[in-house]
Amino acid sequence: MCGIIGYKGQRNAVEIALNGLKKLEYRGYDSWGISTVDEKGAHIFKKVGKIGSINLSDVKLPESSIALAHTRWATHGGVTEKNAHPHFSESKRFIVVHNGIVENYQQIKEQLKKEGYKFQTETDTEVIAQLLEKNSKENDIKNALQKTFLSLEGRNAIVVLDSKTKTLMGVRKGSPLVIGVNEKEYFIASDVPAFLDYTTDVIFLEDYEAGIINESLEFFNLKENKKITKKSEKITWTLEQAKKEPYAHFMLKEILEQPNTIRLATMQDEEELNSIANKIKNAYGSFLIGCGTAGYAALAGSYFFSKISRKHINFIVGSEFSSHQYFLTDKSLIIAISQSGETADTLEAVEVAKKKNSKVLGIVNVMGSSLMRYADYPLMTNAGPEICVCSTKAFTSQLSLLLLLAYAINNKLEDGKKLLLKTSEELKKLLDKNYLENIKKLAEKIIKENHQHIYVIGRSFNYSIALEAALKIKEVSYIHAEGFAAGELKHGVIALIEKGTPCIAIVANDEEKSAMISSATELKARGGFMIGIAPENNPVFNYWIKVPDLGNASPIVNVIPAQLLAYYLAVGLGHDPDKPRNLAKSVTVK
Ligand code: AGP
Repeated sequence: MCGIIGYKGQRNAVEIALNGLKKLEYRGYDSWGISTVDEKGAHIFKKVGKIGSINLSDVKLPESSIALAHTRWATHGGVTEKNAHPHFSESKRFIVVHNGIVENYQQIKEQLKKEGYKFQTETDTEVIAQLLEKNSKENDIKNALQKTFLSLEGRNAIVVLDSKTKTLMGVRKGSPLVIGVNEKEYFIASDVPAFLDYTTDVIFLEDYEAGIINESLEFFNLKENKKITKKSEKITWTLEQAKKEPYAHFMLKEILEQPNTIRLATMQDEEELNSIANKIKNAYGSFLIGCGTAGYAALAGSYFFSKISRKHINFIVGSEFSSHQYFLTDKSLIIAISQSGETADTLEAVEVAKKKNSKVLGIVNVMGSSLMRYADYPLMTNAGPEICVCSTKAFTSQLSLLLLLAYAINNKLEDGKKLLLKTSEELKKLLDKNYLENIKKLAEKIIKENHQHIYVIGRSFNYSIALEAALKIKEVSYIHAEGFAAGELKHGVIALIEKGTPCIAIVANDEEKSAMISSATELKARGGFMIGIAPENNPVFNYWIKVPDLGNASPIVNVIPAQLLAYYLAVGLGHDPDKPRNLAKSVTVK
């Protein structure tokens, strides 16, 4: 899950590449590199670490009209300058960048070594460069690219700069690749924000489709070995949406956007939503799937459908789905949830389901993403670009859409919409300065007392919220946090509670309230410092964070104090909440 940007045109290509990398850094920030070609040949400049505020003058490369760049999330080979991309082929003719994992790279490497090829790095990517070098000896570059790419196993997107012909070539299978077009200039990248400053005309590549950029732009399907034509689409996102100012971090900006993004999630074609609700109603043996935060949205969805629509839908995380494929039929519906629409484990689950002739409803946030294009019924969450690696607004938009569908199944779409618009209004009132201050104070207390463990409990709708709350805290503050069903307390976990251990109880005004208060009382009895996220205060709470009582929509607002707590813990501990260590925005490898 790296970021790729390539450019060919009239402008300073190194500048375009550097700006593009800065926009793609949420995809991986272990190291970065830029390459270019001039009359003296090919040049590569690479560094370990984040790009941060590097200036163009710091990038020691000659000016040029063509460049290829990469920001890395390390999978194969340590975080070193040598392993940073781009990578040269043996003769330095080809420069390669890559997003994905070449699952058969060891076999290819061993074979190439036997043929005398030398390797400088531990990466799987360098194998692609050497294989291209070998295949270009007997083929023209298009056929060399085809032969090379078709021998790679796994989900991969590669872009090659041929220094001899000054050609950029990109091809994908499973990992995203998009081309930006403008008059006399072309961009090729992992994601649209990389070149949104320059053009909103984009062409999404499908699997095995290659884009070859020289004086003009050509497309080939390498699997079917034929030339193809492609149409460009207009991206509706604005530059402003992809900027964090006036906030210090994208995470805070995106948390505070939620009153608006919840309202935008309701902006759906009602006829389409009702028809999809009918498909859910009439489907049999269906599954809700997702990974990480999207997985917790899927879990919450299974509760919405069960309690509101009386419709049973299984929930399973994407990476575990294949073990459950044996029950899929052409009557099954897979509801796949993904912010990026590029998460490999979710896409693989969708591919498994499609092989069983099951239908796929894709709930996705990124326009033109793989899930949006694979799904039989794509639904957009309309949350706008989510740049912070830690997902916040996309989660509440996913919950909002699932809640709308649950109401639509009961032919009560209007009621669902009204409830969400009320939720948006209540949130607008809630998220004021004092509210943020109250949560910031709690974070300062937890940091001052140096707590290394935080526990979150919830029941029913709020069980998935407890899991998501713990994930947010873990992701950005690196404090160990665990969410669990409150009823599980007595079955072991309560042994972890010591004097002062911060415990968050998410208590709604529902049939689970008294049981939740009992669980909080049991934790307090063991010394837990009880933090209550609830519409009303309660004597069992040592610290209370008020949330509006919104009935079935309560889970949507209950997660927001936990998002804010995670944010203030991260900032208070000096961590970058937008780019947490070891993570990246979309996980395009298994
Ligand atoms: C959430 O904060 C994380 N970034 C991660 O768990 C994420 O939700 C997961 O990787 C799924 O991503 P997706 O929604 O783009 O599929």
